[in-house]
Amino acid sequence: MKSSAIPLPTLSGFTERNGSWYAEETPLADLAQKFGTPLYIYSKKALTEAYQAYDRACVDSNGKRRARVHFAMKANSNLAVLDCFKKLGAGFDLVSGGELARALAIGAEPKSLVFAGVGKSAAEIAQALNAGVKCINVESIAELHKINRVAQELNCRAPISLRVNPDVDAQTHPYISTGLKGNKFGIAYHEVLKTYREAALLSHIDVLGIDCHIGSQITTTAPYLDALDKVLDLVAHLHREGIEIHHLDLGGGLGISYGEESPPDITDFTNTLLNRVAERGFGHLDIVLEPGRSLVGNAGVLLTQVEYLKPGVEKNFCIVDAAMTELMRPALYEAYHGIIPIKAKAVKSASYDVVGPVCESGDWLGKDRTLAVEEGDLLAILSTGAYGFVMASNYNTRPMPAEVMVDGKNVYLIREREKIKDLFANEHLLP
Ligand code: LLP
Repeated sequence: MKSSAIPLPTLSGFTERNGSWYAEETPLADLAQKFGTPLYIYSKKALTEAYQAYDRACVDSNGKRRARVHFAMKANSNLAVLDCFKKLGAGFDLVSGGELARALAIGAEPKSLVFAGVGKSAAEIAQALNAGVKCINVESIAELHKINRVAQELNCRAPISLRVNPDVDAQTHPYISTGLKGNKFGIAYHEVLKTYREAALLSHIDVLGIDCHIGSQITTTAPYLDALDKVLDLVAHLHREGIEIHHLDLGGGLGISYGEESPPDITDFTNTLLNRVAERGFGHLDIVLEPGRSLVGNAGVLLTQVEYLKPGVEKNFCIVDAAMTELMRPALYEAYHGIIPIKAKAVKSASYDVVGPVCESGDWLGKDRTLAVEEGDLLAILSTGAYGFVMASNYNTRPMPAEVMVDGKNVYLIREREKIKDLFANEHLLP
């Protein structure tokens, strides 16, 4: 288990001034006072800078665009966050009818949407075709046939791409590795050519692209290159057979620093991949990138209040008002998130497990953290802008936390705290 000696991640939207932490120009303590805790706080500046860095890395030194960024909204699908990215020029990567509805709710251009996911229902496929999305990423032969059937019923043609499972080890947590042959994702590498041939013969399918995604929180470029080379081998083969691929979607997955990790520089990363595409003679392809975590991860913190300090026989516990219900990542992946008191305090520090009120021993947010805290103090759990709120649950009948976006001195409530009465408003007693 990692200890509190881990450095803080680089945060562009959150800074410490005279012992107090700020989101841009706004003290975190003021936000807790106004909106209560647990509270997700995002910095508009941080997510803007993250997007712009990624987008700049997709344009060459002559100003020519080499790739497009489609934000993987599964990482953070709050409408205000999506709207910021839309205004910056992003397209979106979606994985459900619900995410499609969110994209349409913010007025995203349908041709900026790619629809992925391993188990799309006929209703979701119809929703995507009716909306006119750019592409549906197909994950199995059975799904290809279902899409053809739905398109036939709707009397339209379905633009598709096949998701290749390249059998490449992304060297990340097994739960977020997606490109190994034992994973449920994509079409097995040896079946891809056959599936393209089959797709080319289907009456209501337009073959547009090829895609792959090998996992998330990947901190080296090598596995991407391995996957890319395997995908390009397929594109070359298809070209020889007269099946033309127009776009190549390389998925998302670039990791962030939660403290210790040093992911590749974004420009080096895109240059390495895009140069490889060009060197192999495929510079004419439209390239799609689907980053999620790297655009929002370090643009958000979760603010929580210390309820109790509980000395234990083996461990001290710092019991806070956030839990696995607000931030699932530690319980699910043993993920590390930095935890800091938002005001420096001259009290004795001690080592604590930071835990929530949920009735599970797996409900912890940080282990063995050295903290100088007292009851009532506020803590910020760092790097929680990605896969934080979106994975929250109502377990133990706990309401979803509120979310705010800070823009300099301005603060916007972008999601209200859920009300307890709404949690069971849709339930019915027996007659
Ligand atoms: N594209 C596809 C097809 C994906 O499956 C994913 C993430 C992405 C893009 C975005 O990947 P990113 O750039 O965010 O790494 N809940 C986990 C992460 C699951 C990621 C699943 N797929 C976590 O909290 O670490």
